[in-house]
Amino acid sequence: MWIRDAVKKAISEAVGGQIEVELEHPEAEEHGDYSSNIALKLKGGRGLAQKIADFIKPNGVIAKVEVAGTGFINIWLQKEYLVKELERVITQAQDYGKDVIGQGKTVIIDYSAPNIARQFGVGHLRSTIIGQALYNLYKFLGYKVIGDNHLGDWGTQFGKLIYMIITEKQGELTVEKLEELYVKFHKMAEADPGLEKEGRKWFKKLEDGDTEARRIWQECVDVSMAEFNRIYEILKVKFDEAYGESFYVDKMAAVIDEAKTMGIAIKSEEAWVIEIEGVDIPLMLVKSDGGTTYATRDLATLKFRGDKWNPEIVIYEVGAEQALYFQQLFVAAQRLGYVRTQARLVHTKHGLYLGMDGKRFRTREGQTVKLEGILIEAIDRARKLGNTDQAQTVGVGAVKYFDLMHNIQSDIVFDWEKIMNLEGNSGPYLQYTFARTQSVLAKSQFSILNSQFGVNGLKLHPEEEKIIRWIYRFGEVVEEAAGRYAPNLLCNYLFELAQGYNSFYNKCSILGAQGPGERDFRLLLTAATGQVLKNGLSLLGIEAPDRM
Ligand code: ARG
Repeated sequence: MWIRDAVKKAISEAVGGQIEVELEHPEAEEHGDYSSNIALKLKGGRGLAQKIADFIKPNGVIAKVEVAGTGFINIWLQKEYLVKELERVITQAQDYGKDVIGQGKTVIIDYSAPNIARQFGVGHLRSTIIGQALYNLYKFLGYKVIGDNHLGDWGTQFGKLIYMIITEKQGELTVEKLEELYVKFHKMAEADPGLEKEGRKWFKKLEDGDTEARRIWQECVDVSMAEFNRIYEILKVKFDEAYGESFYVDKMAAVIDEAKTMGIAIKSEEAWVIEIEGVDIPLMLVKSDGGTTYATRDLATLKFRGDKWNPEIVIYEVGAEQALYFQQLFVAAQRLGYVRTQARLVHTKHGLYLGMDGKRFRTREGQTVKLEGILIEAIDRARKLGNTDQAQTVGVGAVKYFDLMHNIQSDIVFDWEKIMNLEGNSGPYLQYTFARTQSVLAKSQFSILNSQFGVNGLKLHPEEEKIIRWIYRFGEVVEEAAGRYAPNLLCNYLFELAQGYNSFYNKCSILGAQGPGERDFRLLLTAATGQVLKNGLSLLGIEAPDRM
């Protein structure tokens, strides 16, 4: 049981066990490790707070309880227990912080989802990185997690592309060429509106399974996937499934039928739409030309996911620009009964990358910035920082951490100085701190089996005390980061830990420690810090090399 649960239980017993106890970590150290406002919530004020405090007897976990202000109950933990916690970090190693709260529950995470025939732009970076971090967090908490890459591999744009590929007699296709052809189609269509019809004709052929259309489409998918996979390889991102929109082509008719029979879709001119209360624009289910849409496929996807996995939570790691769309989609899916009523459908709404000028991040020519170029530059910069062996790990880790350290919903100004900053809140700083712990341990030949770390008689330095009062919170932070879809909370936690460790390292001698048991204790602290940093970084999808 986590320390937090033990404290909750103690308070809950004091008030007779009927109400949910909430705990916070007070901002100021002098207010203890935990604080509860339960007496205020029960409108009992200081008097009740005192009664509760008196009821709670110090035990193996709780050292003391005090009442503060208008009725806050502040709780201090036993130092001995927190030192024991460090030993648990070492013995549980990569499993430290794991939980089983998700047991028996399924979460589907829809992430990355780039579009076929388009470059993998920086716009899909956030989804890829955040999606993978959420995946890791939920898995760590015991959930069954399904990661699905909902590739944008269907839609009317393929009719246009096929038309262009056929008429322009292309040689070897590349993603760049596909993008050019698409742009060219639209330029030509401005002069010759009849072209749109050609595009629609080819899309219809594709939907009807025409062999040539299908062959060309497959070629587009193959060249794009080769490029995406190269990037996933560099990012070390993985998926359980990658059905993509095309998988749902033969599953949309059933959705359209159901929506019509249930009276959820209504006819509007020649189209079929789903109207959502409070939203002006309806969701387009079938266009007036009979064509389906992104939404039709997403509804078929949710129906499929519901039937196959019966998920508790479905997380769409998609940008904020689709907020209205997902709002509509979720209401429509609930009305169609595609997910259980209690299911949580979540749209994370991540923000944009901005350039240093505060405008949307673009190349000098006004084009979207390609992700691969960024990763190559990051690796290059890491090499220049002196990380020749670990350039890829440090460079990629830096880009990932920079993305994850921001609140998902805020926009991010892309800033190389901050990304690679060895002195501040950055991936390289955390990796560097981890490597520091490993180098200390390597020099010391530390082994937990031959050590003695009793705090009895060991006076803790304030820097040491700070760390032991921080490490035990790891599991809580993991849970909160998952529950609030906020990997940045884990980043903040790890950054504070790293800062705490570095400041301890600068003020306290570790290998030359003199007091009884002091060296062993400081090495234990070092080992535990390293392990927690490593576990945290790994949840963020960032590797922690032993040396840098
Ligand atoms: N391919 C889409 C885009 O680039 C994102 C898909 C997100 N997932 C979904 N189920 N709609 O905008």
